[in-house]
Amino acid sequence: MKNILVTGGAGFIGSNFIRMVLTEHPDCLVVNLDKLTYAGNLENLADLVGGGAAGTRGAGRTPVPQVPRVTAHDTPYRFVHGDICDAALVARVIDEHHIDTIVNFAAESHVDRSLTGPKIFIETNVTGTLCLLEAARDRNVDRFLQVSTDEVYGALGPEGQFTEQTLLSPNSPYSASKAAADHLVRAFGHTWGLKYNITRCSNNYGPYQFPEKLIPLMIHNALHDKELPVYGDGMQVRDWLYVYDHCTAIWRVLERAAPGEIYNIGGCNEKANLEVVNIILSRLGKPQSLIRHVKDRPGHDRRYAIDAGKIIRELGWKPSVTFEEGIARTIDWYLAGGKWLANVVSGAYQQYYERMYANR
Ligand code: NAD
Ligand code: DAU
Repeated sequence: MKNILVTGGAGFIGSNFIRMVLTEHPDCLVVNLDKLTYAGNLENLADLVGGGAAGTRGAGRTPVPQVPRVTAHDTPYRFVHGDICDAALVARVIDEHHIDTIVNFAAESHVDRSLTGPKIFIETNVTGTLCLLEAARDRNVDRFLQVSTDEVYGALGPEGQFTEQTLLSPNSPYSASKAAADHLVRAFGHTWGLKYNITRCSNNYGPYQFPEKLIPLMIHNALHDKELPVYGDGMQVRDWLYVYDHCTAIWRVLERAAPGEIYNIGGCNEKANLEVVNIILSRLGKPQSLIRHVKDRPGHDRRYAIDAGKIIRELGWKPSVTFEEGIARTIDWYLAGGKWLANVVSGAYQQYYERMYANR
């Protein structure tokens, strides 16, 4: 594996993955293909690949006009601004950079947005993945890794864990689109012998996460003494994994997994949302009175829990960051990165927040 196409590399997990690869595996070339939606932010990588690649575009801003490719000549990194649904562009990028590995992070990733506007979720998460798969098959790419989610399995009651054998039962348009993509990936393997892997990870947190998701939203609101909108009773359970550990798990799969294998990735770290919110408040020295219980998310999955035994046993991966350590690092990062957060929450984010929370 030398020349890796990372799609969605300007987003939260994709940018953390690129950071890990450029830092720890500098013999690889990374080509980042990203559409720069509201969630894509080249500032996430600016310190690593130079100001040229960063510009001032990205996260939450007004739509970006077509920009030329930006290249950081001193780093084995190239950025291509484009859409994974653009078949001609995808083919050209694979050919030009002799891509042997594709890691598909690009997606619409927020469940709440999928409830108000599901169409783009189908376009990017399903049609976009199909487009990448066709290009990978036609060009004999060595490995296609689909970054999927534990949400494809649906919801759990108070007991049990998702294994790789759990039937897919997605409950939201977001998770349905991710499950559809997983099925397509598998079908390309079965029908045309595409060498693929699928990883299904639990909730990530850490630096560069867009503040529409629970942890960064609560940190941002608490920092500004704004109410913290907890959906319903706040007793929904998620398994939290520090983003760096998700990245190392993906790398381990790329290095060691046999084609066609699916791996769950998780932190063994189940927490109710209220517990997470209270930890954030107490670390920031803010009062619990900031918590406001608001109308629940329609169809809200009650509990996710991941059995990550297969990747631990077969590939020797394990998480390296405890929740206590990870949340401390994350809060410190948001405190120190005031400019990043201020840029992200300007403009379109304000309208999003108003739309999502004003009458909740
Ligand atoms: P994100 O929303 O932060 O980033 C998504 C990135 O994809 C952005 O940079 C965006 O510009 C880009 N993108 C969107 N549509 C595109 C298109 N059509 N063409 C090219 N680029 C496009 O998402 P994230 O939280 O970093 O999640 C990354 C992947 O990991 C997703 O596939 C998601 O389903 C999966 N995942 C996320 C989590 C989590 O907790 N965040 C957990 C498990 C799996
Ligand atoms: O499980 C993996 C998934 O985790 C990923 O596939 C998704 O891309 C990612 O967004 C995440 O989905 P969730 O819906 O679990 O994450 P979110 O941060 O939106 O919400 C986490 C929990 O917090 C969920 O139970 C809803 C609740 N919540 C969220 C927000 C934004 C609140 O109570 N209030 C909020 O304002």
